[in-house]
Amino acid sequence: MDNVTHESSIENTSPENWTKGKVIRERIPYNKQRIYGDHEIEQALHIPQNQLNNAKLFNSRYDYAKTLGKGISYLELGVAWGTSAEKFIDITDAKSADLVDLYNNAYATREPGGSAPKNSLVTHEQHIKDKFSYHPGVNVIQGDAIEIVPTLTNKYDLILIDLGTERFFIRNLLRHCSKLVNVGGVIGLTSYMNYDAIHYEQHVGTYQSVNEFLYYNKNWSVDAMVLHELGFHEIYIKKNS
Ligand SMILES: C[S@@+](CC[C@H](N)C(=O)[O-])C[C@H]1O[C@@H](n2cnc3c(N)ncnc32)[C@H](O)[C@@H]1O
Repeated sequence: MDNVTHESSIENTSPENWTKGKVIRERIPYNKQRIYGDHEIEQALHIPQNQLNNAKLFNSRYDYAKTLGKGISYLELGVAWGTSAEKFIDITDAKSADLVDLYNNAYATREPGGSAPKNSLVTHEQHIKDKFSYHPGVNVIQGDAIEIVPTLTNKYDLILIDLGTERFFIRNLLRHCSKLVNVGGVIGLTSYMNYDAIHYEQHVGTYQSVNEFLYYNKNWSVDAMVLHELGFHEIYIKKNS
């Protein structure tokens, strides 16, 4: 048995295997939407160095939250059972929080960030309303984020995008969300990783869409990256002017 493992690992690291794997494709222009096949990978734009110079690295999103100002106004897209919302709201003493989710029991979510309540007699939405009932500034909004976000009129100091990873879903969400952020405010995105992710059976385009957004929006820079134990690293980008 040991022998088999040993042999296969040697085979997998042999130089000829470097020619296997996904075909590298040119980046998709900012004004075009093109779908590459599962066997292809889109080369991302580099984030210009001057948009990286003030970036910090964190062990968890909660350690990052401690560096944010107090009394923030917060928007979370993809709330699931409210684990990250609770942490960001409490650590920053948020003055307000809009919490957007389909509230359909986080179905089809592999990493919901906290488990569902056992034997709950209330709906997902009601569960979140009850959970945050202690806070008068929390607003629970049920619906599809891509439809809800363009209707929001508040300005936020922090927006956490923790739903969807499809290339153009994130591109469009970033475009909308960037208009809702105060100067000095931040947008955080989870699953900042490349198409080759082993976890999903679909393309993960967060990496390409974030890099592209930074490249075309020079008044934004990377504030922080949060490392994740499964490689779902997070990126927090800041609006500087
Ligand atoms: C990864 S979970 C969020 C985890 C949560 N932020 C945490 O850390 O505790 C993703 C959530 O996004 C929701 N979701 C997925 N697509 C959505 C969409 N288009 N609009 C609104 N919510 C969506 C799912 O229902 C799920 O509850």
